[in-house]
Amino acid sequence: MTIRLGDIAPDFTQDSTEGPIHFSEWKGDDWAILFSHPADFTPVCTTELGQVAKLKPEFDKRHVKAIGLSVDGLDSHEKWVGDIKETQGEALNFPLLADADRKVANLYDMLQGEAAATGTVRSVFIIDPKGVVRLTLTYPASTGRNFDEILRVIDSLQLTDGYRVATPVNWKQGDDVVVLPAVPNEEADKLFPKGYTAVKPYLRTTPDPRT
Ligand code: BEZ
Repeated sequence: MTIRLGDIAPDFTQDSTEGPIHFSEWKGDDWAILFSHPADFTPVCTTELGQVAKLKPEFDKRHVKAIGLSVDGLDSHEKWVGDIKETQGEALNFPLLADADRKVANLYDMLQGEAAATGTVRSVFIIDPKGVVRLTLTYPASTGRNFDEILRVIDSLQLTDGYRVATPVNWKQGDDVVVLPAVPNEEADKLFPKGYTAVKPYLRTTPDPRT
């Protein structure tokens, strides 16, 4: 099944390193990132899981719960978790789904191309408080993801959900944003009291409206 932006994230129940998880109940009204790994005891995945564990305070600040997936069983996960703590200097502090029957991997179309025979590709889904899929990413097994970029997208989504703005190239928290083209100037005058710069009629920049 192909999952598109705007779809409701498929629900599931699956075993994890924190016990059985019914996804929608576990997520509640928070944001979530669901991300898959090709297999246990693989070097790139080990570094990724350590990094997500280190970023937990950043995810917490944004009300985001992280949940990983690997298509191996719980016994294997439990041994791997020890390696992650030992080698990455951070214990796993979020659940890792033990998707040995590939139920979730199939539901989220994480088994793709040549990798499908042995494991999942590196998928990422950002899911909002209403359960709507807001971002999908698919990386090859050989390329570790940049979780700072995933945090940056969450910052952009949380900002643009609340204001009639979009975030330009390489935007990060605190940078200027762009006024949505659909907002007429008269309305922009009211919505953005700090003012805006019209570089072109369709390209108007304004300070982050939250600051
Ligand atoms: C890894 O996670 O290290 C990995 C997995 C599959 C292919 C290459 C690297």
